[in-house]
Amino acid sequence: MDPVIPIVALSILLGSLLALLFFGNYFRQRRSEVVSVSHSELQPHHNKRHPNKPHPPSRKTHNPKSTSDKDQNKRHHPLDLNTLKGHGDSVMGLCFSSDGRSLATACDDGVVRVFKLDNASSKSFKFLRINVPAGGHLTAVAFGDDASSVIVASQALTGSSLLMYGEEKPKASEGNKLQDKPPLPGIKWEHHKAHDKRSILTLDRAISSYGGGDGSSIIASCSEGTDIKLWHGKTGKILGDVDTNQLKNNMAAISPNGRFIAAAAFTADVKVWEIVYTKDGSVKEVKKVMQLKGHKSAVTWLCFTPNSDRVITASKDGSMRIWNINVRYHLDEDPKTIETFPIPLHDSKGATLHYDRLCLSPDGRILAATHGSLLQWLCVETGKVLDTAEKAHDGDITGLCWTLSSIPIGEGQGIVLATAGVDKKVKLWAAPVLQNS
Ligand SMILES: *[C@@H]1O[C@H](CO)[C@@H](O)[C@H](O)[C@H]1NC(C)=O
Repeated sequence: MDPVIPIVALSILLGSLLALLFFGNYFRQRRSEVVSVSHSELQPHHNKRHPNKPHPPSRKTHNPKSTSDKDQNKRHHPLDLNTLKGHGDSVMGLCFSSDGRSLATACDDGVVRVFKLDNASSKSFKFLRINVPAGGHLTAVAFGDDASSVIVASQALTGSSLLMYGEEKPKASEGNKLQDKPPLPGIKWEHHKAHDKRSILTLDRAISSYGGGDGSSIIASCSEGTDIKLWHGKTGKILGDVDTNQLKNNMAAISPNGRFIAAAAFTADVKVWEIVYTKDGSVKEVKKVMQLKGHKSAVTWLCFTPNSDRVITASKDGSMRIWNINVRYHLDEDPKTIETFPIPLHDSKGATLHYDRLCLSPDGRILAATHGSLLQWLCVETGKVLDTAEKAHDGDITGLCWTLSSIPIGEGQGIVLATAGVDKKVKLWAAPVLQNS
């Protein structure tokens, strides 16, 4: 190893510590601020790699070097595009805006960061920092109607709060001065004890475009208990609530068209509710319409396909299922399993492991799945593994999310997966190539 590198690394570390001490105090005075983190601080390992050339897989290196060298090698996964540092604690949730150019993260340090991702290979990323009122651990985040409204779940001893931040209009007198600065966000609505004392595990957002839906954003908050609540993104009005009655929830998702809610909970059966809209766009009722029966053990995670016709579930029984929910349930027709795949993941004794989380690519063809710190990409059509990053993070992966559309990567374009971890990092990954496409 070149002896210069540790010295450079040490001075960068000292430099950033000093900067943190100085700026930390400065930023604590403000509710929100635009910050830029330089690349040298973010990515000391990245310069070794040519940005346009895919790096050969380095998973099977057998050189007896120090462990830190091996860790470095593991980070050089060919799909690994970039790392967003700058988080003060574990990152607990993340989501992309619909245009894919903004990434919001919920961090245990009580700060929401909204990164500008104009280029996934950028050397530096600007982010907007939103300091959520003291005492809370942020557990989940979602965008509202657009990239300038962010909904965040904050957990304190007294219970979970749901807050929506939106742009503050600059005052007319200051209008000119603020022209080239982005407007800073302020709280637009908030609900304390949104789920009583229970913590919010997941937030999911959809646009109500089915039936009488008026195109506004709908947010589903899933508590660690058995309740799930629906909120109007813009006004924070509660639209309905449902109960899984299954001891404890794992997560809940809304179909992309805003029609269905499905929940993964403690037992093997998945409940599906329909959000019924009136002609004027308001929610008339939320009623249970289907149950996905077939798994033999708890469902850990699920996701809807982009056309809202299917649900993909992962269970502790070691299998994944694809369900067709486009059935005449009002005539008592049951949703059918159309595909079952074994989860292709085993421990050293050969026992099948389960997936903690899933996220489906916007074209519905690639499923990203995690187990602990492992990240895997599967072909939805065949269930085959496309690629695996065995140690995608230095610790458990807490969230994953695809961009809905292509964004610039190096000289090209592509969809990007973002993963969050307890290692205070958010990583960006390119999509694996699908064979026979
Ligand atoms: C994205 O960033 C990379 C690295 O900084 C640069 O080489 C590339 O030209 C940029 N792409 C675009 C479209 O700006």
